Amino acid sequence: MHARAVAALATALAAVAALLLPVSGARAVDAQRPQPVVVAHRGASSHAPENTLPAVDKAAALGFSWVENDVQRTKDGELVVVHDATLKRTTNVERLFPGRAPWNVKDFTAAEIARLDAGSWFSLAFTGTRVPTLDQYMRRLEHNHEKLLLEIKNPELYPGIEVQILKVLANDGWLDQRHLASRLIVQSFSADSVRTVHALKPAVRTALLGRPDTADLHRYAAFVDLINPSYRSLSAAYVAAVRAHRGPHGAPMGVFAWTVDDAAGARTVAGYGVDGIITNKPEVVRAALTTV
Ligand code: G3P
Ligand code: CA
Repeated sequence: MHARAVAALATALAAVAALLLPVSGARAVDAQRPQPVVVAHRGASSHAPENTLPAVDKAAALGFSWVENDVQRTKDGELVVVHDATLKRTTNVERLFPGRAPWNVKDFTAAEIARLDAGSWFSLAFTGTRVPTLDQYMRRLEHNHEKLLLEIKNPELYPGIEVQILKVLANDGWLDQRHLASRLIVQSFSADSVRTVHALKPAVRTALLGRPDTADLHRYAAFVDLINPSYRSLSAAYVAAVRAHRGPHGAPMGVFAWTVDDAAGARTVAGYGVDGIITNKPEVVRAALTTV
């Protein structure tokens, strides 16, 4: 074929390919690549009160093995699973302890928190549900054969919480090779906290929440295996930039995107090549990925 004809054909094919690409800029989902894992955010938090034992039971019942949670510390040093720095939104603390505003987690003892109802704000069907301790939570996950993306929440409020978390995980049998290889990732918005976890126990897989500049990724690669950004800040190029670095365990760094609650968003980030999708609606994401 004449060289000019070849060039014209190539241009035409490129134009057709461009038309077939999704408008978001995502590349088509790679059939060779494993589907992203679906992580039930704060447990199955659309079905049961977030960060509670019923929420992880429900995730397991729906067939989702990965759950995400948030860990903080009480006044007397117990680790508890709760998202906000205060107990106001997700418990009846205001009614039980009216004079204790602003109801910070760190200002209440474990015994006081154990009295709170962490279910009825969500639905009366969950009245009597408690704020779990991390120990109770880990035992339930083990019973359910689940996997955990554990977030150290507000670590600046709780000096030394990383050592304590690792102690609970060790006591509950979550730091053996089997759990470390496939059932546990520790993440935080605080790079210092994640760095501390890595220094204390290098075998633990870790993730940094947020979206650092690509120019800085090589520095995080020394102590994090994953970069977990808001899905709104993501692009295929960013995922590729993360994957170009190898994490502390020798594998290319991964990406879990949060918090994706609709089918279109799930397909878009899957097209970017993410390794995991953190969602309040895991069944919506699963359906979206299986019908791509
Ligand atoms: O796992 C990601 C996500 O949980 C981070 O945000 O506020 O829901 O803890 P947040
Ligand atoms: Ca979280």
